[in-house]
Amino acid sequence: MHIYSALISLAWLAISAVADTHILVAGTFSFPSLTEIILTAGQQRKLTRRLLVSTGFLYFLEYTDDNPEIRQIDTVRTSAASSWITLSHDGRHIYGTDWNADEPTFVSYGLSYDNRSASWEGKVVVGSSCSGGVKSIFVLANPYYPYTVYGNYYYGDPKCSTIMSTGESGGKLEGVVEDYIYSEGSGVHGTAFSPSGAFLFSADTYGNRIWTHEVDPMTGKLTHASSTVDGPSPGSDPRHLAVHKKGKYVYAVLEGSSEVAQYELGEGGKLTYTNETYSLLPEGRSPADYWGDEVAVTVSHRYLWASTRSHEVANPGYVSGFSLAEDDGKMEKRLFLKATKTSGGFANSIAPSLHDDRKFALTDNATGLVQVWEATAGFDDVALAAEIQIDDGGGCCANAVWLT
Ligand SMILES: *[C@@H]1O[C@H](CO)[C@@H](O)[C@H](O)[C@H]1NC(C)=O
Ligand SMILES: *[C@@H]1O[C@H](CO)[C@@H](O)[C@H](O)[C@H]1NC(C)=O
Ligand SMILES: *[C@@H]1O[C@H](CO)[C@@H](O)[C@H](O)[C@H]1NC(C)=O
Repeated sequence: MHIYSALISLAWLAISAVADTHILVAGTFSFPSLTEIILTAGQQRKLTRRLLVSTGFLYFLEYTDDNPEIRQIDTVRTSAASSWITLSHDGRHIYGTDWNADEPTFVSYGLSYDNRSASWEGKVVVGSSCSGGVKSIFVLANPYYPYTVYGNYYYGDPKCSTIMSTGESGGKLEGVVEDYIYSEGSGVHGTAFSPSGAFLFSADTYGNRIWTHEVDPMTGKLTHASSTVDGPSPGSDPRHLAVHKKGKYVYAVLEGSSEVAQYELGEGGKLTYTNETYSLLPEGRSPADYWGDEVAVTVSHRYLWASTRSHEVANPGYVSGFSLAEDDGKMEKRLFLKATKTSGGFANSIAPSLHDDRKFALTDNATGLVQVWEATAGFDDVALAAEIQIDDGGGCCANAVWLT
């Protein structure tokens, strides 16, 4: 074989060998007590000192498609427990909440060149500009210039949210651009951008409604609310949102009623309820015993995943798969509904694979699991493919994001 083509085949071999391996990272909620940390740290003074200032972890995991398996490849100790993490527009930074901070705070990390680890970049303490007693709960990066980051709060009186800057090309969190108020009684648990980035949708769980804000393309500010739409029923409580890439439909997971509701996206970002909801529970289960969690479109936007969690630890949560119309993303039908291994705790969060419609990662903090689930080729069923248990004394696992 000619040396040049031999080199090319070698390169191909290398590419196909890594193509089967994907990297994901999961964050943590509350952290084990100080005594537990000291016990696990042993006698090594230096290590103990480092652990004493840590209150959270980022777990870097590797998933292989063939012979499905999840392995832990790095553990980043940090001074923040991130109940929610998200990626920057270019996948080079992780932004997170600081779940245990006294003042609402957001944190940022730089990813290493190979995505296998991250380093602390700093935090933005948003302080008392929003009302007291709130925790940072959710964070989302603008995929477009000016790469602003949108932080939301929960508990206390969380009617306010904060926009943060990340520099000209979108890097580490730098500072506050603007605080903005939704309205009295609001508490937004999740946001999503329209495909062009012109609008930000906010799921106001406390206020049982969804907001549309116009995004200023120069500053990223949310100058005024364009419109609001109510949840489909009293107490349905929209929690998280997913937007179809064709820009015709927005899907909301409803925490209160454990359903997914479909909204049509019209002129000026206005959302209209299409009168279609789909339950995330089997017949006979009461929504009062569950809390709807996550909704997410698959990489091709042909399917939708959604999940709910059980309040009772003895009962499982559920995941459901739906088909979406190829031309416009209209919800067609529920394909299946499966019980998860545990209640899901505060999580049962879903992260669709970046490569394969059939796969998603699921996290749970009832026992500390990160799992990968896989649908059958015909999309008529879904099953657990691999899992890893991360026992850090109750922190793991909040949500996960796929890096590759
Ligand atoms: C991580 O991997 C993704 C996908 O391969 C890539 O786009 C991104 O630039 C990588 N990030 C870093 C920091 O290397
Ligand atoms: C939903 O149902 C209401 C009441 O029946 C009706 O007025 C409205 O037009 C319907 N909306 C859509 C988008 O079909
Ligand atoms: C899951 O996380 C929540 C939020 O920090 C916490 O209240 C709960 O106790 C955790 N669950 C377990 C089983 O540790």
